[in-house]
Amino acid sequence: MLKIGPIELKNQVVLAPMAGVCNPAFRLIAKEFGAGLVCAEMVADRGIISQNEKSLQMLYVDEREKPLSLQIFGGSKETLVEAAKYVDQYTNADIIDINMGCPVPKITKCDAGARWLLDPDKIYEMVSAVVENVDKPVTVKMRKGWDDDHIYAVRNAQAVESAGAQAVALHGRTRVQMYEGTADWEIIKEVKQAVNIPVIGNGDVLTPEDAKRMLDTTGVDGVMIGRGALGNPWMLYRTVQYLETGVLAPDPDPKEKIDVCCLHLDRLIKLKGENIAVKEMRKHAAWYLKGIRGGNNVRKKVNVCEKADELKEILYGFVEKLTVEQAS
Ligand SMILES: Cc1cc2nc3c(=O)[nH]c(=O)nc-3n(C[C@H](O)[C@H](O)[C@H](O)COP(=O)(O)O)c2cc1C
Repeated sequence: MLKIGPIELKNQVVLAPMAGVCNPAFRLIAKEFGAGLVCAEMVADRGIISQNEKSLQMLYVDEREKPLSLQIFGGSKETLVEAAKYVDQYTNADIIDINMGCPVPKITKCDAGARWLLDPDKIYEMVSAVVENVDKPVTVKMRKGWDDDHIYAVRNAQAVESAGAQAVALHGRTRVQMYEGTADWEIIKEVKQAVNIPVIGNGDVLTPEDAKRMLDTTGVDGVMIGRGALGNPWMLYRTVQYLETGVLAPDPDPKEKIDVCCLHLDRLIKLKGENIAVKEMRKHAAWYLKGIRGGNNVRKKVNVCEKADELKEILYGFVEKLTVEQAS
């Protein structure tokens, strides 16, 4: 069983934190589709400290999503600790996660995210300062290193452990790689062997079989799934089921996909209002449509859609047409 501090997870499948994706609307769907733990999108320490309205909204956690991990990122020890204390005292999150893997230049420029990967001592200093100041368990999500010449994943994970963090998630790519190439699972195995806290492997788990292969070959305690779950929460439940029973459930049919897509839309509307929700939903709808024959044409229509009713009409119109085509 995967246990992070006192938090017991019901399985080994974790939804990765994804900016612009992992808000309560999608997280709840991921939870309903069986994820043992859901991670929220990253929130900037400065946004929390300055009580920026948008940042504070990002800290909202629905009771039904729990257990949930809330990720923060920051530029200095002081601001990171202040933000962590706020999350500790004023949110419903179960776990505080520190982002040390974000490759986005905006973040690395201010010495946050992946920059710390170059310095295990700095990681120790940052993580222990947070751990000392909060009650909730602290975890760290990191990339394997800065670039191919600076792979300190093992030392960094050991620093995370000795600083008192309760788990580490490792994405097997460097900062420089962004999302190019394949994730290195060998380094994930090395990290697993080098620390005693739970290790969650991440990178290129796109199918339930990938998840099993990662668990089997690296020995990690959990698998974290990011892109594989975009527009495809079935991936989570199929993985949970495959790991538990060895049975590979079939992919959903188009109607089922559109139903969940529209549920996602309704929840986003509640959260952000129709205008923003419909715009945000365009990318999600494209992901839900992926793999469905004829989906490309619908995507073009979805991309200029402004209203929820219109969006639903397009999606259901497409499914009906597909059903008729298949029957004839
Ligand atoms: C759209 C998107 C947003 C992401 N945002 C975050 C984030 O906020 N925090 C973070 O630690 N990683 C973020 N990541 C990285 C993922 O959590 C994960 O490490 C990466 O996608 C590799 O896993 P995968 O191969 O399963 O997608 C993001 C990835 C994507 C695709």
